[in-house]
Amino acid sequence: MRRVVFNQKGGVGKSSITCNLAAISAAQGVPTLVIDLDPQGNSSHYLTGQAAETLPDSMFDFFEQSLTLGGGRRALTDLIQPSQYENLYVLAAHPELESLEAKLESRYKIYKLKEALQALGNDYQIWIDTPPALNFFSRSALIAAQRCLIPFDCDAFSRQALYSLQAAIDELRSDHNEDLAIEGIVVNQYNAQANLPRQLIEELLSEQHPVLPVHLTSSVKMRESHQLSKPLIHSAPKHKLTQQFVALHELLNG
Ligand SMILES: Nc1ncnc2c1ncn2[C@@H]1O[C@H](COP(=O)(O)OP(=O)(O)O)[C@@H](O)[C@H]1O
Ligand SMILES: [Mg+2]
Repeated sequence: MRRVVFNQKGGVGKSSITCNLAAISAAQGVPTLVIDLDPQGNSSHYLTGQAAETLPDSMFDFFEQSLTLGGGRRALTDLIQPSQYENLYVLAAHPELESLEAKLESRYKIYKLKEALQALGNDYQIWIDTPPALNFFSRSALIAAQRCLIPFDCDAFSRQALYSLQAAIDELRSDHNEDLAIEGIVVNQYNAQANLPRQLIEELLSEQHPVLPVHLTSSVKMRESHQLSKPLIHSAPKHKLTQQFVALHELLNG
């Protein structure tokens, strides 16, 4: 399965959700690949313990070589980095990805990622982390993926963004990728004590939005986990938030 985690808003939990769900798949023995398409490289750092720009290979190499014809090509598999965890692999981001964007866009390279991932077949469960924008990289990911998870932070302002996001995904599906399904909206940093988030979720559900029944609460463990470069399943396996991630993973993978 190829999944993308996307919301054009920053700070809603894309990288945290991508990495923690992927780490659970890997810990359960499934070969899992995280593809980091955000030049900020948060997922790359989180899973390898090293800053993205210090890793030997990255998605920069993949996209750059799609712009050059001829020899010396390295397959996508040659760019895969090990993470610090068994069964968990990373195709890292790089800050310089941004500098390629205009060229990739103007030379119609939007299907390159899909072709490369299809060539990987079923070797890995794939999770793609995206930048906080509907740009070349996030659209490449939405075209390459079969499922999309949308993190949502229960902010009233984010609600409008959610509507335009779903419209954008509908358009992408009809123009470029009929396989793409919205797997669900993941409520993150949920505060069960507050009224507003509960009300917002009820309204979204009454409007038929696919809000998933497992909500992720807010916990300092998440920030600690990023600081340690250790996903929750390894840094706090018994914690409530970790158990919510395990339940969400179970919900998605049956
Ligand atoms: N459930 C959570 N509880 C506490 N902090 C969280 C939670 N989810 C995300 N965060 C924090 O919020 C910030 C943004 O999360 P991140 O996953 O980087 O979002 P995005 O990738 O969408 O920009 C990070 O500092 C992260 O540690
Ligand atoms: Mg991120």
